[in-house]
Amino acid sequence: MATESGSIHVILVDDQAMVGEAMRRMLSDDKELRLTHVQDSTTAHAIIREAQPTVVIVDLVMPELDGMHLIRKIRMDESTRDIPAIMLSSESDVHRKVEAFQAGANDFLVKMPDRLELVARIQALAAKSIAERELRLMADQLQQQAVALDEANRSLQAINISLESDVSEQRERLRSIAMLGNELALIRDINILIERLLHEACHILGADAGAAYLVDGDHLRLMHAQNESMDDQERLEQFRKSAVHIPIDTTSLVGWVAKSGELVNVDDVYDIDPDQPFTFNTAFDDSTGYHTKSVLGAPLVGTAGQVIGVLQLINPMQANGERRPSFTDDDMNAVRHFASMASVSMQNAQLTRSMILRMIRMAELRDPSETGAHANRVAEYALVIYEGWANRQDLSKEEIAAERDRLRIAAMLHDVGKVAIPDSILKKPGKLSDEEFAIMQGHTMVDAALFDELLSGYDEAAATVVRGHHERWDGTGYPGLQELDRDEQGYLIYPDTPIHEGRAGSDIPLFARIVAIADVFDALGSARSYKEAWPEDRILELLKKESGSHFDPELVEIFIDGIEAIRTIQHRWSGNAGTS
Ligand code: C2E
Ligand code: SIN
Ligand code: SIN
Ligand code: SIN
Ligand code: FE
Ligand code: FE
Repeated sequence: MATESGSIHVILVDDQAMVGEAMRRMLSDDKELRLTHVQDSTTAHAIIREAQPTVVIVDLVMPELDGMHLIRKIRMDESTRDIPAIMLSSESDVHRKVEAFQAGANDFLVKMPDRLELVARIQALAAKSIAERELRLMADQLQQQAVALDEANRSLQAINISLESDVSEQRERLRSIAMLGNELALIRDINILIERLLHEACHILGADAGAAYLVDGDHLRLMHAQNESMDDQERLEQFRKSAVHIPIDTTSLVGWVAKSGELVNVDDVYDIDPDQPFTFNTAFDDSTGYHTKSVLGAPLVGTAGQVIGVLQLINPMQANGERRPSFTDDDMNAVRHFASMASVSMQNAQLTRSMILRMIRMAELRDPSETGAHANRVAEYALVIYEGWANRQDLSKEEIAAERDRLRIAAMLHDVGKVAIPDSILKKPGKLSDEEFAIMQGHTMVDAALFDELLSGYDEAAATVVRGHHERWDGTGYPGLQELDRDEQGYLIYPDTPIHEGRAGSDIPLFARIVAIADVFDALGSARSYKEAWPEDRILELLKKESGSHFDPELVEIFIDGIEAIRTIQHRWSGNAGTS
């Protein structure tokens, strides 16, 4: 997370002018740090309350009001309770330290600390308080999302009502779009939503092929492409690569739709009226040998009137599989409805996605060497396993689509609990001691703290995966049913010895069993602060060896069957690809 200049405001409360000067010198090299020195501790609380600093540093021994009392005061006042505090003391006496932590200090430093140590401690606490602020922001966004969903439902009902009046095939079509809208409003993952939208749009309009794009700065980014009559997946993949970024301008039909926000219907793209403001980009046909003739391009427009994406439908077909000469006025009407409904669901999905990315960034804040690429890979591997599993069951397509959505989000969040683990453990270059590993295990036990208040019920799947992704099939994993207690200040208390007893077999939820495999595969394939990356054959060997002890044997089998798809994903997310 980038911090603006002076964005970490530190208030030092110390009666000695000298300490203030020394500290100002130590912090002066860091542009993001800004120091205010308060010498009179009796006025300090009012100043802290007013300034809402990122971190406070409080001297222990001061005349009139000492550091212990001041920190208690800070903790007791609702408006300052969450501001992290460092106790500064001239002695490192253990009893003092314990007392300081009990009073509500988050850290303890002995005067005068080394410059680097001081800066590091301040930054760690600042990261914590930024993360907490992010959580509050997220809660606000959730509230907004609930309102947006409400509005979407109302507008969909309005479409339903207006459709009651006319009788025609077109009415049926529009009705099915409206019904679909209700269903799509429930899909919160933008990738799955777009895939689904495109599929349904092609189906409802009888288009042979189609593509969906999202606006990304001054470009369109291809999200999905589908083609009924092209069974050559390799060529389709080639197109996906060639059309990943399309400028929003007149050099392509979809670029023009995004630029103008207008619906465009062209009978023959190889015979575009020269008066039209756009040309046709032949990259798709050139790279695939497919012949594009008629194209319908529809803008997806956000609530503020801005274009957020484009749906492109290609070559209208009849039910018997023959081509129709062009898209009709009815088609244009249908796609208009479709686009307005799609916009609402997409905005919801984007909001959810930004919330999830924010949660993942919170985790990254603690562990910057790990990027969102890991979270994305684990999520996509998990989907491969889930699909393999679902194919063996008797599930409806709708059920599978809805579950995929829940799983993807949950899997992306599996390690979000690492936000609550101290840096000294998270970033330790070597092996963890038992005590440290016990604390690390705590990252699977923050499900209640993280999800109950925030995503109540709605993201039950995420809570399930956070809690269950380190369980083992034979019951020797963690954390089982153990819950974290809180101390008097409300801070979570972590286990002090490692847990080796968890739930076993099918008592472990399916999503957790799936993510366990995806996570270990990815963790072993990546370099960590404590280990090198392993080659693939060694990883697969371990998965097979631990099938039935660590992992659900059926899911390991499915994973290995799907290894080609896994490699494709690994390739797509190689390097430090972003998450957006
Ligand atoms: P992680 O790095 O994401 O690893 C996830 C899981 O992958 C681990 O869960 C473990 O099941 C598997 N795994 C990772 N590296 C190895 C390995 O070298 N050999 C084997 N056999 N399995 C491996 P686990 O053990 O419950 O650890 C959970 C998290 O705790 C890890 O997440 C990592 O963040 C941390 N951790 C575990 N051991 C160490 C360590 O020795 N040093 C440090 N710094 N962190 C550790
Ligand atoms: C695709 O491969 O389906 C398009 C690209 C993407 O979904 O990331
Ligand atoms: C990720 O970014 O890989 C997920 C969060 C984390 O593991 O720290
Ligand atoms: C992490 O563990 O820090 C990244 C996500 C994963 O692959 O487990
Ligand atoms: Fe984990
Ligand atoms: Fe992990």
